[in-house]
Order: sequence, then structure tokens, then C-alpha cells
Amino acid sequence: MTGPSTTAGGFVPPVYPFDKLGEYHELAARHRGGAVDLSIGTPCDPPPLMVLEALGSSGTERGYPSSVGSQELREAASQWMKRRLGVEVPASAVAACVGTKELVAGVPQWLRLRSPDRDVVLHPELAYPTYEMGAVLARCRPVAVPVRPDGRMDVAAIREEDAVRALCLWVNSPSNPSGMLEDLDGLAAWGREHDVPVFSDECYVEFTWSGPPRSVLQSGIEGVVAVHSLSKRSNLAGLRVGFIAGDPELVSYLAGVRRHAGFMVAGPVQHAAAVALGDDSHVAAQRELYRERIEYLQRVFAAAGLPVVPPGGAFYLWVAAPRGPDFASGGESPAFELGRKLAASGGVVVSPGDAYGPSGRAHVRLAAVQPLERLRLVGERLAAAPFGPPATAST
Ligand SMILES: Cc1ncc(COP(=O)(O)O)c(C=O)c1O
Repeated sequence: MTGPSTTAGGFVPPVYPFDKLGEYHELAARHRGGAVDLSIGTPCDPPPLMVLEALGSSGTERGYPSSVGSQELREAASQWMKRRLGVEVPASAVAACVGTKELVAGVPQWLRLRSPDRDVVLHPELAYPTYEMGAVLARCRPVAVPVRPDGRMDVAAIREEDAVRALCLWVNSPSNPSGMLEDLDGLAAWGREHDVPVFSDECYVEFTWSGPPRSVLQSGIEGVVAVHSLSKRSNLAGLRVGFIAGDPELVSYLAGVRRHAGFMVAGPVQHAAAVALGDDSHVAAQRELYRERIEYLQRVFAAAGLPVVPPGGAFYLWVAAPRGPDFASGGESPAFELGRKLAASGGVVVSPGDAYGPSGRAHVRLAAVQPLERLRLVGERLAAAPFGPPATAST
């Protein structure tokens, strides 16, 4: 028996970007010491012990948890925003989500229920792919906003006919994959002027290297929603918990719809997240680990002839492929070819930049999510054979 088939023209999920990297893993695994996987931005360091203890002590297992989030969690989020971002957002303008990826993927369908005459989702042309996918899943039209050479979105390039139909404008600062920092005040002002809600994905805000942490909420909460995650901040990607905060009407609309749809963060996870948000010291320690790894990788890549612009934030290195015939051959993107060479020579698995939009096709992204001793393996291998011979897994 076969499963249900799609009707002609029905949605077929594309291959997941990280499932395309089999050849890289195979090449990198040939190195003594094995592959060093820097392809996925998944934390490798342990979460704080007190958070793990909190998971087992909430007493919330029996009953259904609150969909919008417990008062404890929303208060902790509000206090954290006050401490770290200098903004006053009442707990009533905060709502929980089950990790932010599901929220990002779902926002277009929820907003479309609110504004049925709109169907456009604006997102940076170089971006975390779920902004575009959320639009596709809601049968909306994703519109990529051009990104200028300084890494900031060129909102002046948004066509009027797209702006009037826009459900939201997505921004991500610090940016995955480029590490660039956005002009959040300018984007919030554009959104207010055009009556387009601005959704600001700030999951890397605690890892801001250039200046203080910045939030769209610093421009006021009207017309904007900040999206925050515990995954990167506290190494809790496995717990699945985040929150939104901002415009009270937008937050309560989203929370209301999502309550009917049955979205709930598990009770013990809500308590653990509140405990994590109450502590900044583990984040400070984590920040230093990422800083050290990023600086080390920058030195390694510069020595291998691949200088990298230091990221303004986040824990990625956005590495440009060298220009030349080796990197523009065979119909493959220079990114894919560079990724293959790095797997063969450095035993390191990276993420080709195409995954973040066509403008990423000449870069690869490295996530500084392995301990320094693993990164040193990459440094030693690349120093011994900067790029080696052209490589394929079948040779
Ligand atoms: C920009 C960005 N937004 C959202 C997410 C999703 O994070 P989570 O669902 O773990 O909160 C990620 C994860 O890598 C990300 O890079």
C-alpha cells in the first residue's frame, strides 16, 4: 500500500538543506579524528545545572500547561528584557512559543486569518530559510527584500504593491547566516509608516559582539513583535521554548489563535525556562566560549587564504569563496564547491550559503558550535593542506 499522494500542483516538501550534505560528511570522516561538524547551529555546550534541576521540580506534569505561558515564565521574560535590553514590556504583552522555528513558520498563516486581504511576507533576501517557508506553507507570497553590501535590508526597494499586501516584515539581527546587525529603529519606523507589522527575530541577541544588545522593542512596542529563544541563549534547543513580546494587540491575537490550535510549552519546560531567564552568568560564560572559537576560526581561515569579515553578532562565520575557475565550474554553486574542498582538506562540514537564498551562493557558513579542541583539528588539517586537490567522495 502507498500513502496518500499529493494532487497535481500540491505542495511537496523540498529536501531539507542539511540532508544535502552527505558527501561532505563522507569526505570529512576520512580524516583521523573524524569529521568536525560545523554545519548546524545547534549548541554543544551543557545547559546550566540549575535549569536541569528545575525541570524535575516544577510539579506541573499532571495538568495541561498554559498556552500563552505561565505567569512565572512571562514575568521572567519581562524582567530579562528590562535587564538586558533596557525595555519595559509588561508580562501581559509576552506569549510563549514551542521554540521559535514553529512560530516563525506559523506567523503568516495566523496573520492571514487576521488580515485576509493581505498575502505577502517580506523577508531579507539572505536569511534563515523558515521566513520564506512560512509564507509558502500559508500559501502566501514570499518577497525577498534586497540586502545592501553593508548587510542591511534595503526597504526603499520594497514595491508599494507588495507593502500594501504585506502581512509582516521579518528581520533577523544579529543575522543568521551573515552575523550582520540591522538598523532596527529604521525598520520599525518603515513598518509603522506602512502599517506593516515588523517581526524581529532576536534569538542571537545575547551574542552581540559589536556594541550593546539591540532589540526592535527599543523603538517602542507599537506595531512590532520581538521573537526570542532559549535555544541559543541557554543551550536549551532540546527543550523547545521561546517567546514573543511586543505590540499587545498582535501578541494577544497570536496567543489567542495559537491557544485554539493547541500550542503549549510543556509545564516543566516553562518553569525551567523561567529559571534560565533569571540568570545571566551562564550566558556570560557561553559568550566567552563563542568569542574564543570565532576568533580562532577567523585566524585559521585567514591563514588558509579565506579572510572573514568579523561578525557583528551570532556565532557563525560567513566565509566567501575565492574567485576563480575552481569555484565556478560544473554548474554547482561556488559555495557547494568550497564546502566540498573544506570537507576534503579540513575535515570540516559546513553549510553552503545557497541554503539562505540565492545571494548566498558564493559563501559558506560555519557554526562555532564545537569545542576548541575539535576546532584545532580543522586548524591543523588546513595548515597542512590548505585546499588539497579537487575532491569528490567517489575518488
Ligand atoms: C534566525 C533563527 N531563528 C530561529 C531559529 C529557531 O530556533 P528555535 O526554534 O530553536 O527557537 C533559528 C535556529 O537556528 C535561527 O537561526
